[in-house]
Order: sequence, then C-alpha cells, then structure tokens
Amino acid sequence: MISRDTIDKVFETSRVEEVIGDFVNLKKAGANFKGLSPFANEKTPSFMVSPVKQIWKDFSTGKGGNVITFLMEHEHYSYPEAIRYLARKYNIEIEETEQSDEQKQHADERESMYLVSEYAKNYFHDILLNSEKGKAIGLTYFKERGFNNDIIKKFELGYALDEWTAFTDTALEKKYDLKFLEKTGLTIIKEASSPLEQSRKFDRFKGRVLFPIHSMSGRVLGFGGRTLLSDKKVAKYLNSPESDIYHKSKILYGIYQAKQSIAKEDNCYLVEGYTDVISLYQSGITNVVASSGTALTSDQIRLINRLTTNITVLFDGDAAGIRASIRGIDLILEQGMNVKIVAFPEGEDPDSFAKNKSAHELKEYLENNAKDFIQFKTSLLLEETKNDPIKKAELIRDIVASISKIPNNIKKEVYVQECARLMDISENVLFNELSQILKKEQREASKKQSISHSSFTGVKKEVKQVEKIDRLLVLESALIWVLLLYGNKEVDFVDYVTVIDDDGNKKIQKEDYVNVVSNEIYINLQEDEIEFTNPIFLKIYYEIIHQLNQNQNINIESFTNHVDIEISMVVTNILMDEEKEVLSDWKRHNIFPKSKEKGLPKFVPDVIYNLRTLLIKQKIQLLTEKMNPINLEDNEEEIDKEEIKKTIMDYTQLKNLLAEKLNIVVN
Ligand code: CTP
Ligand code: MN
Repeated sequence: MISRDTIDKVFETSRVEEVIGDFVNLKKAGANFKGLSPFANEKTPSFMVSPVKQIWKDFSTGKGGNVITFLMEHEHYSYPEAIRYLARKYNIEIEETEQSDEQKQHADERESMYLVSEYAKNYFHDILLNSEKGKAIGLTYFKERGFNNDIIKKFELGYALDEWTAFTDTALEKKYDLKFLEKTGLTIIKEASSPLEQSRKFDRFKGRVLFPIHSMSGRVLGFGGRTLLSDKKVAKYLNSPESDIYHKSKILYGIYQAKQSIAKEDNCYLVEGYTDVISLYQSGITNVVASSGTALTSDQIRLINRLTTNITVLFDGDAAGIRASIRGIDLILEQGMNVKIVAFPEGEDPDSFAKNKSAHELKEYLENNAKDFIQFKTSLLLEETKNDPIKKAELIRDIVASISKIPNNIKKEVYVQECARLMDISENVLFNELSQILKKEQREASKKQSISHSSFTGVKKEVKQVEKIDRLLVLESALIWVLLLYGNKEVDFVDYVTVIDDDGNKKIQKEDYVNVVSNEIYINLQEDEIEFTNPIFLKIYYEIIHQLNQNQNINIESFTNHVDIEISMVVTNILMDEEKEVLSDWKRHNIFPKSKEKGLPKFVPDVIYNLRTLLIKQKIQLLTEKMNPINLEDNEEEIDKEEIKKTIMDYTQLKNLLAEKLNIVVN
C-alpha cells in the first residue's frame, strides 16, 4: 500500500493542467484551459480544466474529477496506479507499506495483466540483448535491418527463444499467475482432450522478434511478433489476442514514443507497419505511428486528434495498396482533420525508403511530396480514368463524396474549386453533386431522428419518471453545492409562521432570525426526516456536517481529492457545474443575483422548500396509487381507504402551505 503521506505529497505537487496536457492539447481560455474532449468525438472543445480548482470537466460526456480521476478515466489506471504514475512524473519517492498476500491477490485483474505484460516485455528485451541465442539470432536480425542499439532500446524490442515453454516457465517461477499469462495471450493453454491427458501450456511467441505495443502513457498492452523465416506458409506477424487490455482497433503502434513530437510538430505521420515506424524514428522522423496493417478506425483517429489536427499518410508504393487505403481516409476527413498523402516510389515502403537517407534528405522528401488528400485522390483517379466518360462520372461522385465529409464549409468550397480545375470541368457540376449528397444525408439523418422520436413517445411514462429523479438530484446537488461553498456562513433568514390571532383567524407572520447555512439545512432536513436519496450525496452531506462540527470550516480539497473516487467526482462535477451556470434556473428567476452570498437568504429556503414539496408530491402519488391499484392482485391485502384519504389530505395541506411560504420568500 502507498502511504497516506505519499498520496498527500502527490496531490500537493501535481498540476492537473500539466498532467492532462500530456494527453490533451489544451489552450488557455480565461482562467481555465480548454481542449477537445478525449472521451468523445467532437470538433468544438468542451473539455475544461480549472488550474485554480485543480479539477477538470468534460461537458460532452459529463465526466469530471481531479487529476487522479482523469488518469483513471483516460488511462484506465487504478487509484494506486494513478498515484504511481504521478509520483514518477514529479519525482516523488513512494513510501510503501508492505503488501500482504491477500492484498496482492486483490489487486485488480487488469493491473495484473499490465504487470505480466510489463514483465514479459522486460524478459524478451533481456533475452534479445543478453542471452547467447537472443544475440545471435534476434539481435543479428535487427542489426541486419539497420536498427541501432538506441532505437532497439527506445522501442524495447525483444526476442522470444525458439522453445515451447521458455517464457512461461520463467514467468511462473517468478510467481506470475498463469491466469494472467493466459488472459494476456502470452501463454496458450491447451485443455486435455481425455481424462488421461494433462492440459498443456506453451508460449505464444516462439522464435520471433517482438515489438511491444504501448498505450499513450507507456503501459505495455500487447506484442507483435515477426517470424524470422521467409517461409510463406508461416504468418509474418503474430499479434497478442484481443484482451481486456489489448484492443487492436483502439491503439496506434508508436504513439507513446511519438506523442510529444506529434504535438510539437503539429503533424502526425501515419504508416502501415512496425518496422516503418522504427526506421523513420531512427532516421529522425519521430512524429510517426502505425495503424498496424489494418484500416484506420475512428478510435485511432481520435487518439491522434488529441495531439494534432494534421495527419500525413505515408503510402507504400504499390497501386493496389494505395487504392485500398484511400477508402479509410474519408473517416479522417469526417473528424475535421487535414489529411496529406505522401507516396513512395514503386516497390518502396517508408522503411526501405528511409534506409541510407539522412534525416535532412528524408524530411525534404516528405515535405516536397506531401500532397493534399483531395488533390492526390483526384490526380490518381484521373490517371486511371483517362478519357473514359463513364468512369469520369464515377470519379466525380467519388471525389465529391470525400469532400462532403469535411465539416468546414469554407474548406469544402475551396476543394470544389480546386478539383474542378484539376478535372477540367465546371465548378457547378461539382457543387450540384455536392448538394445532392448533402441533401441525401440530411434526409437520412432526419429519418433516423424521427424513428427515435416515435419510440420515445412510447416510453413517455418512463421519461417522466426520469425527469422527476433528475429534479430531485438537481435539488440535492444544489444543497451540497451551497453547503460546500457557504456551509459556515451566517445568514439572515426569514421564516413565515402561521399564527392564530386574537380573533381566532389564521395569520402568516414574518420572523427574522440568523442562522449558519449548514445548521439551517440540517435542521430543516431533520425536521422532515429527509435523507438524501443519492447515496453519494448522503456520504458527502454527513462528511460536510462532520467537518463543520469539528472545525467550523470546510476543506473543499478534502472532497475534490477524496480517496473515495466517487465522492471526488461528484464534488468536482458540482463545482464545475457552477462554472457552466447549471444553476441558471435559479439565476433566471433572480433568486440568485450577481452577488452570490446576498442570494443565500432566498436560495437556501427555496431549495429546501422545493425539495420538501417534491418529496410530499411523491408521497401523495404513492398513496393515490395504493388507493387505485392498477393491478387487481395488489388489492389482496385489506387497505383502509379512509385512513389513506386522510393522510393524502394532510399532505396536500402541507404542500399548499409550503407553496404559499415559498411564494412569499422568493418574491
Ligand atoms: N501485420 C499483421 N499481421 C500480418 C501481417 C501484417 O499484423 N500477418 C501488420 C503488422 O503490424 C505489420 C503491418 O501489418 O507491421 C504491415 O505489414 P507488412 O508491410 O507486411 O510488414 P512490415 O511491418 O513492413 O514488416 P517487414 O518490413 O518486416 O516486412
Ligand atoms: Mn516493411
């Protein structure tokens, strides 16, 4: 276990904007930073980081929290992993209290899979560099391909011995759990086919050189293993299987090593293979990643989009390959990114091309040969269609379809003009085609929407239910908010009590009194036996009350940095919502004027009254349902209708009284 001291030190030292800045391109926006949400596909930034409060909020997904929760959400770290990561980043020494066997067992499964993968990476790297066979076979192979020691270490390349169980045996000796060796695919278990047999286990990677695949933050997720045989029947690459930590479609090979330079250069080179990445990197092009042989997915594009909006795709120099890859590129355009293409001479890929070239030569080639994607596609297809008019019509449609994916209208127009020029046809033809495609898309989109609308009406009742719950949560969170920020403030409250005057008439009388906000809330809730329905609010509430009783003061940071992640997330959300003016409902009704503290005498009772009213309404509804059961079977137990009716009337009276009071207080 990591000591409390260390955790505190990590929180004191970490700057949320710095930590998030490693993953998201942040721009200053007033007192805050803004960027594109790393959790959603978006073009306008809705991701906010507050350096003052040391919290973040993603308005497109609703996620938010402190520096730790960001790492947990984004890197899928566990709490201790996130602490360790920050400790490493800020050079904080970790004070550890010894882990018991039981605690070790409880460390979560993913963490164990990461640990096994990390161990495997070190093991294979060590075999490559230090074992006789590793040096003779694996290292020699890499050297023949021109990889130097630095690059081999940078990418932590490895070698798996050509033996059945070399790795598995060693890992088991080191007390790594077979379960996780299997889950990561490093070990394959073959179940016994008869009771007489025993199940057998062996290494997945055998006699192959290995490319460890890292996450953006440098965790090892899996491996790609290249055979050293030139036998066509042997698969050139064998990769880790899909697992809880390895999702091929969501990662890019090399992103960990390239991320800083991608952001700095504001451009990302995209290649096909592991060896292309390594060769370019060694030649000085360090902002390079590989899609690992498959079509680029939108998850992968989003990964790049966090660092830059510019992608340059490097195509191998064979026509079939180019045609195949071109399809995937519309997806990049759709995300509003700028795409350029560099083609290599026939028969060359980036790896072979980079051989024997200086960094300078290579950079010059890339810069001189980078063509805008639309232009590239147009010239390529033009060449193929030559003077065939039917094919040319197809080509126009194809190009315009790509242009239609670009979200920015000005850009669209520029491209139409450019392509008209290249294809030697009138712009009008292209604009017509474009507007037809866009109209068709609109029709389809609205069709989809109306379908979802009609299914919506079918569940109107449920929606109503949800609204009600939402209203309750809004009120509860408003209470938490006011407690957190003004819990210890003394406020001049006004109450209106019903009195009977000398003539026996009911009269409402005004009473002024001073109370501390937290007391006012506490007493009111107590009086009505109201509990927060949201269990986390309830926890926060009691902790606030406890802190106030102890120190007459609330330490907000103790909530935003709370060890209970849910608490820290909820509190962050509430504090960030203020920034986004979710409390605007109250603002609109002028209950909460410019100076917030001045609004307290109205705001506090308003929330409390509303909460009470809502709960009373719920009670009335429940009772009414009880009187008129929808399902006859519910009626089996005898119910005293008169009794219920009376209770309903009591509640209704109370509700009306509250409405009256609320009306006076607020107006
Ligand atoms: N790939 C794969 N499985 C295969 C073949 C290819 O996963 N059976 C992926 C690998 O990520 C590989 C990429 O596709 O890096 C590109 O394939 P290829 O060009 O054939 O391999 P290179 O990486 O160029 O390898 P080499 O230069 O050693 O031939
Ligand atoms: Mn290659």
